[in-house]
Amino acid sequence: MKEIDWANLSFGYMPTDYNVRCRWRDGAWGEIEVSSSETINIHMAATCLHYGQEAFEGLKAYRCPDGKVRVFRMDENAARLQSTCRGILMPELPTDLFEEMVRRVVHLNERFIPPYESGASLYIRPLLIGTGAQVGVHPADEYLFVIFVTPVGPYFKGGFSTNPYVIIREFDRAAPLGTGIYKVGGNYAASLRANKMAHDLGYSCEFYLDAKEKKYIDECGAANFFGIKNNTYVTPASTSILPSITNKSLMQLAEDLGLKVERRQIPEEELATFEEAGACGTAAVISPIGRIDDLENGRSYVFSPDGQPGPVSTKLYNRLRAIQYGIEPDTHGWTQVVME
Ligand SMILES: Cc1ncc(COP(=O)(O)O)c(C=O)c1O
Repeated sequence: MKEIDWANLSFGYMPTDYNVRCRWRDGAWGEIEVSSSETINIHMAATCLHYGQEAFEGLKAYRCPDGKVRVFRMDENAARLQSTCRGILMPELPTDLFEEMVRRVVHLNERFIPPYESGASLYIRPLLIGTGAQVGVHPADEYLFVIFVTPVGPYFKGGFSTNPYVIIREFDRAAPLGTGIYKVGGNYAASLRANKMAHDLGYSCEFYLDAKEKKYIDECGAANFFGIKNNTYVTPASTSILPSITNKSLMQLAEDLGLKVERRQIPEEELATFEEAGACGTAAVISPIGRIDDLENGRSYVFSPDGQPGPVSTKLYNRLRAIQYGIEPDTHGWTQVVME
């Protein structure tokens, strides 16, 4: 095999040795299958292709300084996938089966787990699709669950640093009572134009307000938002954002650090009052926000004039990373060692 240049991996797809699969047929989940094929052969009338019966997840395995491989809160990913299944009428995959398949696929692709020093990790992508044929708009009667893995580079190549965001009003990602709280492909298709618009304008990511009133903060790209002020961690309550596992963890860590935690609606104007702001998700843990521009009213909310992440964001980031890498005690029992 060609040597992998661990230090220069990006967030892209690289083929690995195996993926694991499980099919739902006749009302039940079958046996776990191991596959070395990168393709799936499905019926042209499969519901995933026509009616968006598709869900995915994203999590990572980390090679730690003690040599072990850990996965972070995979039970939460399993639970979120189950919630998505309820949202678009797909059969729920049991947590035990989800975890067993994660462990199997990580083991089978051990040689693709990046070394600790590289800062890279093994990205784990579970995917559930309706494979049964339908022409009318109905749930499928057969499903395929697949997990593949691919090594990905560290999010911050040049160190932990801030990024500029822009509020996009032209396009909504999800409706207030739509599928924004589920991890379904349609939400990401709906976000492509806003994301391109933000990039074309020179921003690192798009920022969404609530779709109904365009008044409250929703999400930033594929990450949740949080702001810090007066020793308080504030994050939006909204019916159209994805419940981020990173955000849930940061809320707990903020509390552990003695901060107050508020989950509530955040009016756009309140952005002006935050001392720090960040986008959080599996990809970066925290991507500190330098500024958010609102081109419609010409306002610019600046959190970091010097481009440096704030002290609370830095503390939260370091603490969560240290737990993921088994460096600091995992007092909440969030990590699972999947390889000794
Ligand atoms: C729309 C959206 N919001 C937030 C997140 C962050 O969620 P998590 O912390 O579970 O990765 C993601 C990534 O999964 C996402 O796609």
